[in-house]
Amino acid sequence: MPDMRTIDWAGDAVELVDQTLLPGECAVIRIGTVDGLIDAIRRLAVRGAPALGVAGALGVALAAATEPDPAAAAARLRAARPTAVNLAWGVDEALKHLDEGFEAVLGRALEIRDADIAACRAMGERGADLVCELTGRDRPRIMTVCNTGGLAAVERGTALGVVQTLHERGRLAGVLALETRPLLQGARLTAWELGRMGAPYRLVVDSAGPFLLARGEADAVLIGADRIAANGDTANKIGSYALALGARRAGVPFVVVAPESTVDLATPSGDRIEIEDRDPEEVLGVRGVRLAPEGAAVLNPAFDVTPRDLITAIVTERRVIRPDRGETP
Ligand code: MRU
Repeated sequence: MPDMRTIDWAGDAVELVDQTLLPGECAVIRIGTVDGLIDAIRRLAVRGAPALGVAGALGVALAAATEPDPAAAAARLRAARPTAVNLAWGVDEALKHLDEGFEAVLGRALEIRDADIAACRAMGERGADLVCELTGRDRPRIMTVCNTGGLAAVERGTALGVVQTLHERGRLAGVLALETRPLLQGARLTAWELGRMGAPYRLVVDSAGPFLLARGEADAVLIGADRIAANGDTANKIGSYALALGARRAGVPFVVVAPESTVDLATPSGDRIEIEDRDPEEVLGVRGVRLAPEGAAVLNPAFDVTPRDLITAIVTERRVIRPDRGETP
């Protein structure tokens, strides 16, 4: 299966796979304005930290080409979602070239796109080696949450990129994919990607994760990250912390796979990471079908923070960090 691109620059616009339509429809949409891109980010048409980094950088190119005040438009784009540091990072990297003009901004954005493709390949190789080493298994069984595949990056993913590499090596025994309420990135997107890969997987409800670890059903937990603080604390999709607790109790390695652009040395620890609270409607029902009674109150944090002592390893394109041994990024 050839790697498709989740997001790219095409002519004078950003093109991206509208992930809200998957798995029913794999449609590419064309976005020619910064406000259109902000809307796509907020409604999760494009999502996942590495893809958001590329979206941020390409968005500054859009701003340079179309906006009377590109810096102000870039600031709006930077604030579209708060938790994944990659969005702010991508915007800031491209903004450094604003004074040199549109071509220079676009050039930097395309470098970021290409670097993501290379980084995901490198993480896949290093992560696959590490998982076999940590688990002592030739063909490990992996548990994962949310979607960290090609849809969350440009071509291949982070944690799911490791799964893909294991599968390509003939070394994947199977995947337990958490469905990932409320927006079901696991059920809709990860299952779709694993199916396209031809990788063996089973979907499980989120609350089954820690119990299935206790029952010995997975050899390692692999997750992505939205922001890794300077001390190693890691923000990722809600449900990650529960898996980390379950993994520790079960003696299962808990591995974070993320590019260096997700490491935020300016944030000292996880309690300083802003956690996005999303629309109550996401919890009250599923895709427009209301489940909760009228008047139900909601709390909807989109992410949680796993403290560093529960993290066996962080794999980036350059290195392996061992937070549970006191190593910091
Ligand atoms: O709300 P989302 O779908 O953008 O959340 C995505 C995640 O939490 C991913 O695990 C994270 O961004 C890493 S993606 C490689």
